[in-house]
Amino acid sequence: VSTPVLTIRHATGTCPVHIQAGLLETLPDLARAFLPGRRLVVIADHQVAAVVPTRLDAPVLTFPAGERSKSRETWARLTDELLTLGLGRDGALVALGGGVTGDLAGFVAATFLRGIPYLQVPTSLLAMLDASIGGKTGLDVPAGKNLVGAFHQPAAVLMDLRVLRTLPDAELRTGLAEAVKHAVIADAEHFAWLRSRTSRLLARDEATLEMLLLRSVAIKAEVVAADERETGRRAVLNAGHTVAHALEAATNFGLRHGEAVAIGLVLEARLGEQLGHTAAGTSAAIADLLTQCGLPVTMPRGVSRADVVAAMATDKKNRSGVLHFSLPARIGAITAPWTVPVTAQAVAAIL
Ligand SMILES: NC(=O)c1ccc[n+]([C@@H]2O[C@H](COP(=O)([O-])OP(=O)(O)OC[C@H]3O[C@@H](n4cnc5c(N)ncnc54)[C@H](O)[C@@H]3O)[C@@H](O)[C@H]2O)c1
Ligand SMILES: [Zn+2]
Repeated sequence: VSTPVLTIRHATGTCPVHIQAGLLETLPDLARAFLPGRRLVVIADHQVAAVVPTRLDAPVLTFPAGERSKSRETWARLTDELLTLGLGRDGALVALGGGVTGDLAGFVAATFLRGIPYLQVPTSLLAMLDASIGGKTGLDVPAGKNLVGAFHQPAAVLMDLRVLRTLPDAELRTGLAEAVKHAVIADAEHFAWLRSRTSRLLARDEATLEMLLLRSVAIKAEVVAADERETGRRAVLNAGHTVAHALEAATNFGLRHGEAVAIGLVLEARLGEQLGHTAAGTSAAIADLLTQCGLPVTMPRGVSRADVVAAMATDKKNRSGVLHFSLPARIGAITAPWTVPVTAQAVAAIL
């Protein structure tokens, strides 16, 4: 096994992150190295199972692609299928797919027999640069996004840039939304780099994509290592997400997660500007870059503002019923105390 590009230290151990074109050709060897002696089961959505070969001699459990599968129903079915297979405490899972698969299979791993190890093998850009890192797993429930879940760190995260060749364009763009988020919360230089590299990224230039992954993963890993269980600073990774999660719920997942994040980043920066918390011009700069990436930056037509505000009532950052947002001070900086209280009226004004 080659050296990881990065190793994340967490409460119960370390998680190596490998990024390399062609890595999945050696997945059987990597799985043996990271999960020695374990019986493996792969979990993937139908689409990924059809286009990404694993070369593993292991059963593959599948489910329909899309956010609606990140549900208790799919969790229950997959868990029952593992029990039918007779998987025991010596078992382990391989989460092969986008962020939906990583969150769902990760939560199956967190809860199966009170927890078995798993590998994150992200195949979407969004999952590579964000969702596969940090050990958050979970499900959506009727009351909202990600409201049931667990922290469960993977044994390793394995990224093969070549699998991005089959990723649909719209899904490549949603990955860029989370990359812009990382730049906004932590790195103004990276923001400028993204502006100058957008066309190369959209053209899937492998070397440029690799540079993007290295920077994004490093930013996320640094935040996670500082605050694994989100008692404070990790909330900055939620920039744009208070609005995004509410939009996803209010549209019944009519938007992709990354599209909702793009809109959320712009509207939340505008909120920050109106509150005097965020430097003037920040939301316009974010909107420019996201538009260049082919992402939406305004409220979609036909969405009820009241529904969006109502959906925020279940946001995990709320404290004593008061909404809290993680708002940038300027491009590249969110500062302590990491989240600020905001009234529902102020939120309604930016929607
Ligand atoms: N746990 C975390 O920290 C974290 C962070 C960010 C996002 N998320 C979650 O991630 C989810 C979004 O992830 P996503 O955008 O990857 O969605 P996704 O998993 O639904 O994948 C998007 C689509 O791309 C397809 N796909 C993936 N890889 C492919 C490939 N290589 N070739 C062809 N098709 C491929 C999938 O089948 C799916 O249709 C949301 O549920 C979000 O809440 C979690
Ligand atoms: Zn996200």
